[in-house]
Amino acid sequence: METDVLEKRERYENLLRQMRALIVDGIPPEGNICNLLAQLKTELNLFWVGLYMRTSKNTLGLGIFQGMPACTKIDFGKGVCGTAAEKAETVIVDDVRDFPGYIACHAEPRSEIVIPGFNDFGEVSFVLDVDSVELAKFDAIDKEYLEKAVKLFEEILNADKV
Ligand code: SME
Repeated sequence: METDVLEKRERYENLLRQMRALIVDGIPPEGNICNLLAQLKTELNLFWVGLYMRTSKNTLGLGIFQGMPACTKIDFGKGVCGTAAEKAETVIVDDVRDFPGYIACHAEPRSEIVIPGFNDFGEVSFVLDVDSVELAKFDAIDKEYLEKAVKLFEEILNADKV
């Protein structure tokens, strides 16, 4: 058990190192974001991973992603993404079939974690949506490290706005 936790942490430390190393200057932010999402999807063996960007006070719109075509608009408070955006906190769903108001863009995902990202004013500016075909794939360790991963997306997006 203890070893499993250590291995999981080590895998995430490596993943974060790989993601940091992928970020380069002098290309559009989209290129960096695509690469980070591709790394996440590959290393965590995900079904779908992507960003929903805040498009108005209470709306999210589909941003850059890796995976199948997905739902395009999500209101704050709706689905897992809208709930994480409204609460401004990470939401973990062990079984999507048990989540009231779950938005099923695809039939395959069984568990999901959504992490909010913030602009320089501390407002939610996007969410990172992470979907797995495995039940209960995400726990407190995933939350801890995916929140660190979101900081990398914040760096890219917030730097671009200056
Ligand atoms: N399931 C999400 C919608 C986005 S898709 O998973 C890509 C939700 O309930 O917010």
